[in-house]
Amino acid sequence: MSTDVDARSGRTAAWAYSEAFVPEDEVLLRARERAAELGCQASSPGTGALLQVVAASLGARAVVEVGTGTGVAALWLLRGMPADGVLTTIDAELEHQRAAKRAFAEAGIPPARTRTIPGRPADVLPRLTDGAYDLVLVGSDPHAYPEYVEAGLRLLRPGGVLAVDGALHGGRVPDPARRDEVTTVVRDVGRSLRADERVLSALAPSGDGLLLAVRR
Ligand SMILES: C[S@@+](CC[C@H](N)C(=O)[O-])C[C@H]1O[C@@H](n2cnc3c(N)ncnc32)[C@H](O)[C@@H]1O
Repeated sequence: MSTDVDARSGRTAAWAYSEAFVPEDEVLLRARERAAELGCQASSPGTGALLQVVAASLGARAVVEVGTGTGVAALWLLRGMPADGVLTTIDAELEHQRAAKRAFAEAGIPPARTRTIPGRPADVLPRLTDGAYDLVLVGSDPHAYPEYVEAGLRLLRPGGVLAVDGALHGGRVPDPARRDEVTTVVRDVGRSLRADERVLSALAPSGDGLLLAVRR
């Protein structure tokens, strides 16, 4: 007879298997190592693979990423996008963006395919064109997720997809006893998107949770 413990360890094994299902190459592993050195939490391999699939299925030529980090999610996205697709990626930390550019060069990504914008997303996002993007990935300061999500929805064309990484916030979001400020903000972002008639949403338990919402 199977027990709760068996079911839990089965789920843990299934999660680990899913995360490692599409292995990362040397370039991604080096970008991930730089993220660890700089204290920046890169998107998980399972999340990266999912983003790659979403980018490829949308044929995403115009993508925005809020929170470049060292380029892990960016590399997955670029590999899913068509060869002429352009990724606009925003981060206030120049050191992180330098590391990301190094990863793009190591991956042989032509410079014209990335627009790396240094600055606060709150300053940069209003300068981007409304309705012009196929995919927007939010993975930066969780306090600002409500603002970034709203900006992302404005930037998307109908049928475009908003992706919010870290939507489970270290497993705290599903725990109703966790009511600290950041967990509450991230939980409320998920609930608002679920109720938002402008989108259809789903929460994938990859990595730290990837919330996906397609613009109607
Ligand atoms: C988690 S990293 C993004 C990782 C990226 N998705 C990847 O896979 O490489 C978040 C980025 O957002 C920026 N950021 C700005 N404010 C932040 C905050 N309060 N907390 C976390 N990241 C923040 C950091 O500079 C960092 O590069």
